[in-house]
Amino acid sequence: MNRGLLIVFEGIDGSGKSTQCRMLADLLNKKGIANISLAEPTRGKWGMKIRQLLAKGRNGISANEELEWFMNDRREDVKQNIEPALKAGKVVLMDRYYFSTAAYQGALGFDPEKIRVDNERFAPIPDRVLIFHNSPEKSLERIESSREEKSAFEKRDYLIEVQTIFKSFTGPNIRYVSSDSSLEKVYEQVLCEVQDLFEVKL
Ligand code: TMP
Repeated sequence: MNRGLLIVFEGIDGSGKSTQCRMLADLLNKKGIANISLAEPTRGKWGMKIRQLLAKGRNGISANEELEWFMNDRREDVKQNIEPALKAGKVVLMDRYYFSTAAYQGALGFDPEKIRVDNERFAPIPDRVLIFHNSPEKSLERIESSREEKSAFEKRDYLIEVQTIFKSFTGPNIRYVSSDSSLEKVYEQVLCEVQDLFEVKL
């Protein structure tokens, strides 16, 4: 059976990854390539609990529980959305996946490598992971211009630590994309980093 493709967009808040993910989805639609866009945290029961946490702050739950919620949300996403779409031969575009857990919960003190390994026991390994990076100042500027209040996940020192962990990932499927330049330039780089996965010219 044809397995689809799994392409993941990762990076700190305000790194511009979600916009680039949407731009690639639009292009695939134009080219008639079957695709689905997913995002974590999801809109499922665990994802909604996490969203409340993001809005209200981390008070009241332990770091262990926080990690567990993200893992539960992913288990559900893998079963209900990711695996069926891959089995159907679709290109799955994900705005965040387990590299976010390794980086964000890793920055709380958990071992990022262990988080990655634990996830890879049940979550399909992506064909490509694009890790967007830019200066935390630029991210904070973007966050401040688009949101009324920063969440507990969007504080400067924490984001710097998260970004340091993101930058430590290595592997044949991992590519780094600098998002400090213009939208068009970043998009060009995105296409360049995924082109080899497709038979048609993007
Ligand atoms: P979003 O703004 O891209 O929707 O992501 C919501 C927040 O959730 C973001 O600050 C990163 C955080 N997050 C984690 O801490 N761990 C995870 O595993 C995921 C998927 C997201």
